[in-house]
Amino acid sequence: MTYLDSAATTLQKPTAVAQAVFSAMGRMASPGRGGHKPAMLAAETAFACREAAAELFHLEDPENVVFTLNATHALNLAIKSVVKPGDTVVVSGYEHNAVTRPLAALGCQVKVARGPLFASQATLAAFDTQVTPEVSCVICTHVSNVFGFILPVEEIAELCRRRGVPFILDASQSAGTLPIHMDELGCAFAGMPGHKGLYGPQGTGLLLCRAGQETATLLEGGTGSLSAKQEMPDFLPDRLEAGTHNIPGIAGLLEGLRFVKRKGEAEILRHERALVRQTVEGLSAVPGVTVYAAQAPERQGGVVSFNLANMDCEEVGERLGRMDIAVRAGLHCAPYAHQSAGTLETGTVRVSFSAFNRSADVKRLVDAVRGMTR
Ligand code: ALA
Repeated sequence: MTYLDSAATTLQKPTAVAQAVFSAMGRMASPGRGGHKPAMLAAETAFACREAAAELFHLEDPENVVFTLNATHALNLAIKSVVKPGDTVVVSGYEHNAVTRPLAALGCQVKVARGPLFASQATLAAFDTQVTPEVSCVICTHVSNVFGFILPVEEIAELCRRRGVPFILDASQSAGTLPIHMDELGCAFAGMPGHKGLYGPQGTGLLLCRAGQETATLLEGGTGSLSAKQEMPDFLPDRLEAGTHNIPGIAGLLEGLRFVKRKGEAEILRHERALVRQTVEGLSAVPGVTVYAAQAPERQGGVVSFNLANMDCEEVGERLGRMDIAVRAGLHCAPYAHQSAGTLETGTVRVSFSAFNRSADVKRLVDAVRGMTR
């Protein structure tokens, strides 16, 4: 299998991740719910995972790292903590439905800061225009899950700080490859999956919260703390973590975070970018292929989209799948990104990499696509 769908979830994980999941299942109980050894071991593992995330993402207090089911869960918590029904919110022209559907459910007025595809300065200028006094929140993805475009989130965060507007970062495609400095960004929240670039199991995600940030609950229930009260605790992480934790998932995520730290985000990014470059060069040489790639390589992460003339993207995806090459085709739950690129009607075929891909994977893909055009 040639797996090129890591923007959906990474399939190959470090060996230590699966070992940690397996080992936790036999040895760990519920953290904060007992003084016995299996409960204590679970609590230590959960705290070590919060510490590893806080260190990687430059967050002073590990208690401000909240475990979630996935990035969608994290973003829903963030959005529903900041945005009130009917509010005016600014988003980028690359947002995923994980952001735009909660805003639609809240009946928000959504202003889209849209620039041409891969245009960093124009995107920043669009935020500058759209973030007006009535705006209650700005939400932006760090990297487009369709095109791999790296948005200028440091500058957008700065603009939000200057105008006193809360900023929420969607780090779904950047966590594990791009630096995320919570202390410097000053954003209210950052949401991310544990199972993509952090190499944890599916069913894991993280919400990073700014110190002192007000939060709203999505779930209420037992936390193992302040049990005599009927209100949820007002402190993190308990306030947002009702019910039994996914401890095997958290134990696996801890090993994923350790893998990223050992290898280094910059090295993983360099590796993925080299594969993107090889893909762009290889596919661009195939007649009838349109590749959507940034002119400036430093604006692209480990994701790239393409289309084949006269062939539906879903058909390309299916044919590649039959050859055991896993890609994702269609709109990738991100209609805003396709509006920005002018591909809403056609969709795209998306190729996305991880630290485990090799140059031979790209060669197989390019050969397979070339074979389809003959
Ligand atoms: N958001 C994930 C993707 O782009 C699931 O495939």
